[in-house]
Amino acid sequence: METNRGSWGSKTAFILVAAGSAVGLGNIWRFPYQAGINGGAAFVLIYIVAAFVLGLTVFLAEAAIGRATGKNPVCALRALKPNTRWHWFGAMGVVICTMVLSYYGVIAGWTLGYAAKAVGGEFSRPMDQQLVAKMFTDFASNPGLMLLLFFAFILITVLVVSRGVQGGIEKLAKMLMPLLFLLLVLMVLRAVTLEGSSKGLAFYLNPDFSKLNAAAVMSAISQAFFSTSVGVGIMLTYGSYLRRSNRLVSCGMWIIGLDTLVAVIAGLIIFPTLFTVPGMTPAQGPELVFVVLPVVFSKIPLGALFGAMFFLLVVIAALTSTISLLEVGVSYLVDYRQWTRRKATWLLGGLVALLGIPSVLSQGGSKFFSRLPVIGMSFLDTMDKIFGAYGYTFGALFIAVFVGFVWKPKAAIAEIEQEGYRFRLKKVWAFTLRWIATPLILVMLVSSFF
Ligand code: PFF
Repeated sequence: METNRGSWGSKTAFILVAAGSAVGLGNIWRFPYQAGINGGAAFVLIYIVAAFVLGLTVFLAEAAIGRATGKNPVCALRALKPNTRWHWFGAMGVVICTMVLSYYGVIAGWTLGYAAKAVGGEFSRPMDQQLVAKMFTDFASNPGLMLLLFFAFILITVLVVSRGVQGGIEKLAKMLMPLLFLLLVLMVLRAVTLEGSSKGLAFYLNPDFSKLNAAAVMSAISQAFFSTSVGVGIMLTYGSYLRRSNRLVSCGMWIIGLDTLVAVIAGLIIFPTLFTVPGMTPAQGPELVFVVLPVVFSKIPLGALFGAMFFLLVVIAALTSTISLLEVGVSYLVDYRQWTRRKATWLLGGLVALLGIPSVLSQGGSKFFSRLPVIGMSFLDTMDKIFGAYGYTFGALFIAVFVGFVWKPKAAIAEIEQEGYRFRLKKVWAFTLRWIATPLILVMLVSSFF
């Protein structure tokens, strides 16, 4: 059944690829803003607790399934619970990842376009917010250019994934992740040495516990799941290429730790820089990265270089995430359908390119997709709501229920404790999975409907 599967070269390789999946657009544009409006350091604290308690708990459950079976999400669940329907949830993970890739790749394409703009010196002349906002609208509503950038991003993703687990994904992560950290450090140094940067630091980090209401705590939890990439079969698939000698607990601590570190550092770059330019206010999502920051880059010393580094960083973060999204479906086609990796990657990549077209056109390129009838949102936002927000939370709930109550913590612990490793907190982990993570995610899912 299993041909051409491959495995990671080392534990470090696994940590880098999995951290590469986790570190993405969510860390750079979503986390800092969420922290800024939800009580600064107080939110950061809650986030860290959520990432390490819930994110790590579900990560261990998911990676244990992957390593125990050495299979993609569908075959893994079928192997653990044969003759049941549980593997349908594995198929759901494959679908969610493919659908998420079809719109995440569109935004990733924008970052590629902006990296090219930045390197080409477009942000070296003084600009105001109106001009940059117009530049972004013109850019995003240009269907030809948008399609080109999206296809280019998917093509790069396909080229890496088709080269295999070790020869493609691992090799790239080993090159890019250290570069990402280097860029981060250089940029923090630039940001905090700007005159007036302390105002931004105060906005970002002043602990304001009065803002920590139930909604803020929920935001921290859902951000923790999205940001750590757990719940949709990515860590299961990546875990399936692990060797028994690689300790899941320490891998998990590293992955969650690096992801959290990048998120916190991204805030240390964005806000100190932003607040040095009078009149700039923090925004969320596309606006922050594509409208607010270019203005700032055009006004600060060495801004053009800083801007080019920033967009390069975002491209790297996005690419290591799109790779993980494509790999889930590819591993399914290779294991289950017995396709060669090449065929699986090109065909699935082609499908994603088609599925992404409505998202590409939904930023002004087509009136219909920019504001869907009845729903009233753009196609891209709708995809994000269905597959990003609900899909993710539902996936995390499924993993917690499956490992907590069906496969059972005991079996997962036996997998975690392979090769003589002693998991000291196993009782705490099993309890957290069953009685903290499961009900909390359920509450989140239900409350998000209202
Ligand atoms: N975790 C990535 C981020 O924070 O941007 C994004 C991501 C990767 C989302 C993989 C979904 C996914 F399946």
